[in-house]
Amino acid sequence: MPLRLQDLPGALALSLSANWNQNEADWRSMLTLGRGFGIHAAADDGVTRLAASVVVLPYGDDFAWVSMVLVLPAFRRRGYASLLLRHALAGLSAQGRAAVLDATPAGHAVYVQEGFIDTWGFARYRREARPDGAAMSGATRPLRDADWPAIEALDTPAFGANRGALLRALAQRLPLAARVAEQGGRVIGFVLGRDGREATQVGPLIAADDAVAHQLLADTLVALPGPLYLDLLDRRRALLLPWLQAQGFQFQRPFTRMVHGRRDAPGDAATIVLAAGPELG
Ligand SMILES: CC(C)(COP(=O)(O)OP(=O)(O)OC[C@H]1O[C@@H](n2cnc3c(N)ncnc32)[C@H](O)[C@@H]1OP(=O)(O)O)[C@@H](O)C(=O)NCCC(=O)NCCS
Repeated sequence: MPLRLQDLPGALALSLSANWNQNEADWRSMLTLGRGFGIHAAADDGVTRLAASVVVLPYGDDFAWVSMVLVLPAFRRRGYASLLLRHALAGLSAQGRAAVLDATPAGHAVYVQEGFIDTWGFARYRREARPDGAAMSGATRPLRDADWPAIEALDTPAFGANRGALLRALAQRLPLAARVAEQGGRVIGFVLGRDGREATQVGPLIAADDAVAHQLLADTLVALPGPLYLDLLDRRRALLLPWLQAQGFQFQRPFTRMVHGRRDAPGDAATIVLAAGPELG
């Protein structure tokens, strides 16, 4: 039942079957930072394979992220997702931790039945290629090692727990996407990104000020030539969506942040512009 690093090929096959963007580095990092559980089952061809997964990422003492709830198409509607979810929730309840996740519409139906409730929403947008003629604003700069205390000081109240180790790992995966904005020598916003199976994902982006958010996003997009995903909070849509659409971004799918064992989403979404992605928070 526990997923190990030798399950990586089966895990990748699972995320591929849903057309998700995670690559091996994502699975490896999630199984290292958290714990995965799976169900192996035989299909009609008699071959036993990893048929379903869930990953639990602890974020501090109060809550954990539940992610990678996936079931191979041939094994759906047999109760596998519910079974794995209940297993994860029982473990978290024994630790006194609440559960938080970002639900797709398909997952939402399962989570509601297990007692999860909705908080705020966001949506995924995709761009195929960088438009011609985009230039850096000059208002942001590449992230430096010395910025980490300031980045954690911005991120922890926004996200609701310290996820410094994860953010550092993301910055290393795609240094080109990692930028900060300063005012009077103080870091007031940052953005990170990571490589993906079929597109680069940009996020998280944390900035209270709308203009700063726009500059960080614009400068990171200039640095990245190929296909991109980003997960934009609905509450920041009015500011950024028309500009993103002019840059070639198109709507992909909605997500809902859901909680179990608490009433609100952790943190303060007022300063979040882009989520890190549904598998990370
Ligand atoms: C969403 C998903 C994980 C559900 O897995 P599953 O093993 O089929 O789910 P379960 O069998 O445990 O479903 C439990 C109940 O949830 C509801 N449910 C499950 N999938 C549903 C769907 N696609 N639409 C509507 N209701 C659904 C049903 O009420 C179901 O009970 P029933 O089959 O007795 O009617 C699976 O469809 C999947 O992998 N989808 C693609 C990836 C994805 O979106 N994952 C969720 C990430 S947040």
